[in-house]
Amino acid sequence: METKILDIVAKRWSPVAFSDKPVNEKILESLFEAARWAPSAFNEQPWRFIYARREKDTAFKKMLDTLVPGNHEWAQHAPVLALSLARVFFTYNGKPNPTAYYDTGMAVGNLLAQATYMGLFVHQMSGFSAENAREALRIPDEYEPIAMMAIGYYGNAKTLSGTLREREKKPRTRKPIEALIFRGGFPAG
Ligand SMILES: Cc1cc2nc3c(=O)[nH]c(=O)nc-3n(C[C@H](O)[C@H](O)[C@H](O)COP(=O)(O)O)c2cc1C
Repeated sequence: METKILDIVAKRWSPVAFSDKPVNEKILESLFEAARWAPSAFNEQPWRFIYARREKDTAFKKMLDTLVPGNHEWAQHAPVLALSLARVFFTYNGKPNPTAYYDTGMAVGNLLAQATYMGLFVHQMSGFSAENAREALRIPDEYEPIAMMAIGYYGNAKTLSGTLREREKKPRTRKPIEALIFRGGFPAG
């Protein structure tokens, strides 16, 4: 029997074909609200998100311009771009927070689940210049930019260029579960 997983986990994937259809502000709020409720060490909530809408915010172009060309090509059509950041020092004592990235990843996980539930798609990208983002988006030193995200509804793969269309059709793959999960410790030898 096939192992069962939640629909919102099974249905999530990272497309490159985004529709022009705007994302309603309330829906976007739900995504960030879901992120807000993630757990974190010492309840530090180190995650931050900067977002911009393609049609309305001048920051959209600034964010887009930080992307490597391979991401810029398709992400320019997404109605929303967002950047995840982590505050890498604890607010209560100023010391480095070793789980800031982990916690931020959990917040993004919540955001992805909420997005999938609401029929949206999110494609994360580490292919961007954090340095340029820091400058363009006025990011203070204690925050580390992590990943850019294209957010929107699914578009039409037929509108993509040849290479992107091929990529969009490729079956998604994962390592086998035995390579990832170990009962009682790593295998001996
Ligand atoms: C932190 C992070 C960075 C990523 N960076 C990029 C990127 O720069 N460009 C891209 O096209 N996809 C990027 N991806 C998407 C991954 O390639 C994708 O999640 C992976 O191949 C699994 O596919 P799936 O999301 O459809 O399950 C990134 C994903 C994550 C989580």
